[in-house]
Amino acid sequence: MAAKISILGFAGSMRQGSYNRALLRAALEVVPPEAELAIFDLEGIPPFNQDLEDQPVAKVKEFKAQIKAADALLIATPEYNYSMPGVLKNAIDGASRPPGDNAFAGKPVAIMGASIGMLGTGRAQYHLRQSCVFLNMYPLNQPEVMVPFAQEKIDPKGRVTDPKTREKIKELLESLVAWTRRLRGY
Ligand SMILES: Cc1cc2nc3c(=O)[nH]c(=O)nc-3n(C[C@H](O)[C@H](O)[C@H](O)COP(=O)(O)O)c2cc1C
Repeated sequence: MAAKISILGFAGSMRQGSYNRALLRAALEVVPPEAELAIFDLEGIPPFNQDLEDQPVAKVKEFKAQIKAADALLIATPEYNYSMPGVLKNAIDGASRPPGDNAFAGKPVAIMGASIGMLGTGRAQYHLRQSCVFLNMYPLNQPEVMVPFAQEKIDPKGRVTDPKTREKIKELLESLVAWTRRLRGY
């Protein structure tokens, strides 16, 4: 039997009631049987200082190690001021350094996001995709999972209650598994 595809998920929000963390929890419930999903919490990653990039703190080392060990990544991004939040960009910057040790290189990645606005993080996702180019990642093109008006689809307990959103997350994970296998040639 083939080994399971390991997926590492993280969200660019540290808010307790985060809609994007809720998307990741929903993903845990619909992950395909041939894959496994672990969630990494970005809380505790310090602001990036290039003077210290050769000696990252333990939390950044752990983040890089988990990214490297994963077959694929799943990123849930909020949209802040028409872009990805600083928390997410900062974490990505830290794990991409120092030169020659970019943890993201060659990783397949699926992107999703939830916002209270009507475009469901579309603008943030395209900025994130731009970073994926420089990081030499392989972002999945489709499906695009952009969840608008998240407050109507995620209940106060942080559960994704909208069946269509749950279905889209499932489809995204299935496509990520197929994409990862395709890139690896098995
Ligand atoms: C600093 C800041 C900027 C924001 N900018 C946007 C934006 O550009 N587009 C948008 O749809 N929502 C924007 N929002 C609202 C977010 O969609 C909303 O706060 C959402 O809940 C954040 O994701 P989270 O629930 O995972 O924390 C912004 C919120 C904050 C705090």
